[in-house]
Amino acid sequence: MAKPMTQETSRAVGAVVLLGPPGAGKGTQAKRIMERYGIPQVSTGDLLRENVAQGTDLGIAAKAVMARGELVSDDLVCNMVRERLLLPDCKRGYILDGFPRTAAQAGWLDALLERELFDNSRPTRAWPIVIQLEVDYNQLLLRITGRRSCPTCGRIYNVHFQPPRFDEICDEAHGTKLVARNDDRLEVIQPRLTAFQEQTRPVAEYYRRTGRLISVNGDRPVDEVTDQIFRILEDHHA
Ligand code: AP5
Repeated sequence: MAKPMTQETSRAVGAVVLLGPPGAGKGTQAKRIMERYGIPQVSTGDLLRENVAQGTDLGIAAKAVMARGELVSDDLVCNMVRERLLLPDCKRGYILDGFPRTAAQAGWLDALLERELFDNSRPTRAWPIVIQLEVDYNQLLLRITGRRSCPTCGRIYNVHFQPPRFDEICDEAHGTKLVARNDDRLEVIQPRLTAFQEQTRPVAEYYRRTGRLISVNGDRPVDEVTDQIFRILEDHHA
């Protein structure tokens, strides 16, 4: 069983990159790593959705692109990530969920980390641990179409695999009705999966070629996937 309750919050963890197609479980696993190691989840999808909800310039630029299931431009996303990584809570490490997603973003991240290698004030000076979640296509479709989340507390459910106790109502934020994400509609899922195949697969190949990619079977139940990831992180720091 996974051990999300035991915290390991004293040592520097560094950058953890979670790669995988839409619905692979990146967000689900990022939250568990965050709980265990006390480092923040930096989800570019969540940051972009916050910008859309707040109507910022970035949100206005990203809204239609996201609704079509395409990728937001590298410049906009990299600037957003740079600002987030400079916040003090990232000093011991951070989990990149949904970034990098293009070859250009991967190159940008390497350049950023290389600059960090010469910055002795930050303790997280190492290449990221890159974990790829592999999940069968039909399972991905079920996960995406079944996903619901709580607009109050952010908890993620799945009507097929992790349903709430009461139909469409959050277990924790009492009475809050769960919602489906705007881009989890069937007509947007295929463009998202295509963007992954065409633009993000090469990122995984790049990390594989440089010996930094660790693949995990994401088709297993959530706790088992968490166990595999915790083992990788423990081995990496042993
Ligand atoms: P983003 O928000 O990153 O979406 P995504 O990559 O499509 O990933 P998802 O959030 O759909 O899936 P996930 O892997 O986090 O799965 P989850 O844990 O929720 O991006 C959205 C959009 O923003 C993009 O399309 C793009 O437009 C833009 N964007 C974001 N980053 C960008 C970037 N870097 N560059 C350019 N544009 C960018 O799980 C899914 C469901 O499965 C849940 O219901 C969960 O409960 C269930 N589940 C999880 N694990 C399991 C399991 N092991 N067994 C059974 N069910 C499970």
